[in-house]
Amino acid sequence: MDPLLQAALDARRHAHAPFSGFRVGAAVETADGRIFTGCNIENATYSLTLCAERVALAKALSEGCRRFRRVAVAAATKVLTPPCGSCRQILWEFCPDAELILVNPDGASETLLVRDLLPRPFDATFL
Ligand code: THU
Repeated sequence: MDPLLQAALDARRHAHAPFSGFRVGAAVETADGRIFTGCNIENATYSLTLCAERVALAKALSEGCRRFRRVAVAAATKVLTPPCGSCRQILWEFCPDAELILVNPDGASETLLVRDLLPRPFDATFL
């Protein structure tokens, strides 16, 4: 198994998902080959819930990483789980050229590009 996909699958173990029961793991790979992981962290207010993708990306960003090669997202669904709209926006802003790999615990996976998931994005060029 690709270490990035394994890292995303393993990160699901740390999910804090008492409300939905839906455990998500994510892993980002930096340009120099480092891997940062994240899981979803739910909150009783619901709206303050953090998605796995954004947790992983924030960990890497806060360690000074700015260039990313790949992002993996893991959930236990037969139809592979894609990032939500908010995560697509954040991923687009930080790593539009990254590969996005969806994976489940059965080992099924699909590779997409971050940029293909957010058509006609709003970004800093409009500001
Ligand atoms: N979730 C993620 O972590 N990433 C996504 O892209 C989709 C949704 C989480 C948020 C919430 O804890 C649970 O999955 C159900 O929406």
